[in-house]
Amino acid sequence: MAEDAVADSKASDSKATGLPAELRYIQYSHELEKQYLPAIRALISKDLSEPYSIYVYRYFLYQWGDLCFLAIHPTTSLLIGIVISKLETHQSHSPPTLRGYIAMLATSSAYRNQGIATTLVRKAIDAMIERGADEVVLETEESNTPAVKLYERLGFIRSKKLHRYYLNGSSAYRLVLHLKRTMDMSGEVGI
Ligand SMILES: CC(C)(COP(=O)(O)OP(=O)(O)OC[C@H]1O[C@@H](n2cnc3c(N)ncnc32)[C@H](O)[C@@H]1OP(=O)(O)O)[C@@H](O)C(=O)NCCC(=O)NCCS
Repeated sequence: MAEDAVADSKASDSKATGLPAELRYIQYSHELEKQYLPAIRALISKDLSEPYSIYVYRYFLYQWGDLCFLAIHPTTSLLIGIVISKLETHQSHSPPTLRGYIAMLATSSAYRNQGIATTLVRKAIDAMIERGADEVVLETEESNTPAVKLYERLGFIRSKKLHRYYLNGSSAYRLVLHLKRTMDMSGEVGI
């Protein structure tokens, strides 16, 4: 079954022994759907209180597959991590801004704390910068300390607290990374 393409905690080379070689980071493309979409869904839904339907995944992957990146185990080709994003013009700002949005991020539990999600998010942000993004936003559960720390290390700031944002009643932070503002201050795009 394709869900076997997720590297889980039963993987023989767990976090304790480390990865055997360089991880492969690949940009999503439609040819990968058959091989990896079931594994992507399995990896994301494992830690979600609100599982997404297949249409949500297709919404992102069909339109912004180039802003989605996979971390692949170098020897088994199993999926270890995924980031799914989009980029749209935000008309309510004057002038309109090009806003990136990180929709989903996950690393298989056996491979966490090795910088995999950080690398995936950096790749997504770099791809957004290449396409002229002004800012990147996302929501994350208030209690999700690993995710909040990860994003704040990358330069995201808390722009809003969203009370009872999730169906399970928990609150979220809206985080924002101002790309153009960073560029103005330092003279170069830095994240
Ligand atoms: C949140 C999540 C994606 C983080 O994934 P991850 O791959 O463990 O993240 P990273 O390894 O990049 O960063 C986590 C820690 O590893 C550390 N780290 C970063 N690069 C590292 C490296 N090269 N070697 C060792 N450790 C490293 C970071 O300093 C960080 O530690 P800190 O937060 O204590 O400062 C993961 O916990 C997960 O999948 N959670 C469930 C789904 C979820 O919550 N998604 C986010 C929704 S918004």
